Amino acid sequence: MRPRSPESLASRTRRRAAHQVAPGVRRRFSGDVQHAGLAGWQHADAARGHWSGLDGRGHSRSGRRDTGGVAARLAARREGRGLSRWAGVDDQDRLVTSAYDAIPDFGVLYDSVPLYAARQDVDFYLAEAKRTRGAVLEVGCGTGRILLPIARAGGAITGLDGSPAMLDRCRTKLAAESAAVQGRVRLTQADMREFNLGAVFPLIIAPFRVVQHLLTVDDQLKFLTRVANHLAPGGRLIFDVFNPRFDMLVGHDGVEREDTPEQRLADGRALRRTYRIARVRWVDQVSEAELIYYLDGERYVQAFEMRWYLATELRHLLARAGFRVREMYGDFARGAVVDGCPELVVVAENAGSTAGSPSA
Ligand SMILES: C[S@@+](CC[C@H](N)C(=O)[O-])C[C@H]1O[C@@H](n2cnc3c(N)ncnc32)[C@H](O)[C@@H]1O
Repeated sequence: MRPRSPESLASRTRRRAAHQVAPGVRRRFSGDVQHAGLAGWQHADAARGHWSGLDGRGHSRSGRRDTGGVAARLAARREGRGLSRWAGVDDQDRLVTSAYDAIPDFGVLYDSVPLYAARQDVDFYLAEAKRTRGAVLEVGCGTGRILLPIARAGGAITGLDGSPAMLDRCRTKLAAESAAVQGRVRLTQADMREFNLGAVFPLIIAPFRVVQHLLTVDDQLKFLTRVANHLAPGGRLIFDVFNPRFDMLVGHDGVEREDTPEQRLADGRALRRTYRIARVRWVDQVSEAELIYYLDGERYVQAFEMRWYLATELRHLLARAGFRVREMYGDFARGAVVDGCPELVVVAENAGSTAGSPSA
């Protein structure tokens, strides 16, 4: 075992706290784990996603969190002998990171997937924030794709995320904003099933399928309990999940398909991305997925599990947790939930709330 500095121990402890308990992380065998990770790409059309938010600033690997174990596995993977799915391990082969932290500079890669620019959710969440009096809490804020537009529009917002890499990227982007925008943002690293911020919010959002990281009913209820404890009276919880396409789930063949043609990053590196569904676990309502980043020819696999929900199931789940569904939309233009609609966008409130009449 390598000697460990106090800093590296502290870093590992932080990461363990954030991720070792993460619901989607599951050791399959040494170095082979899965994590409920980036959501939404399972629909093989892949015509959804985020913007390419390259900041054009220097892009270095030197400051990244990494361990010899992780580096060794990355090297093994590049040599074609890597395991197909893992999240991250420390130098004792213990799981320490999520799928968002296992690949170097992941926040930059996440922000660089051009398909994501087509995603129509930013205006939706921005509109909901604008009609809210008081601060917003975004659970699973990632690199700030939704958080920053809300802050730029004048909203106070707290961003919570379990991934150091995603939060680092968010902080880097926030540092380039005006002092006024910076002053409206708070960022905190925490697990969405266990956080306690000592504050309540009139609006809590979990955009881009964050809730699909919660694989078990137990974890889903833990998250909803934390949300309930942080909601102001009459407050709303808004989140989205994809509406499962069973034809695509049934038809999965494990084959890699390109969803991001090769492009140049701001630092000159070439990025291309493919995806594949390795397996569907029907009984768990889980897809085992991989997003495969080719960076200057090097292959990095973000492997994770995604829990998919049915609309009726969401209503039952929320009711069980003391919520009621005020609205459920089939897309971010507030279309109806119908067969084949791409999204399930949920607006819920505490069942005890007196604000308005529920739709369900
Ligand atoms: C698909 S990204 C969405 C990020 C952002 N909301 C957006 O719309 O771009 C999901 C985020 O959820 C975070 N996450 C996953 N599991 C988590 C957990 N147990 N606790 C806190 N954050 C978690 C990931 O780190 C990641 O940043």
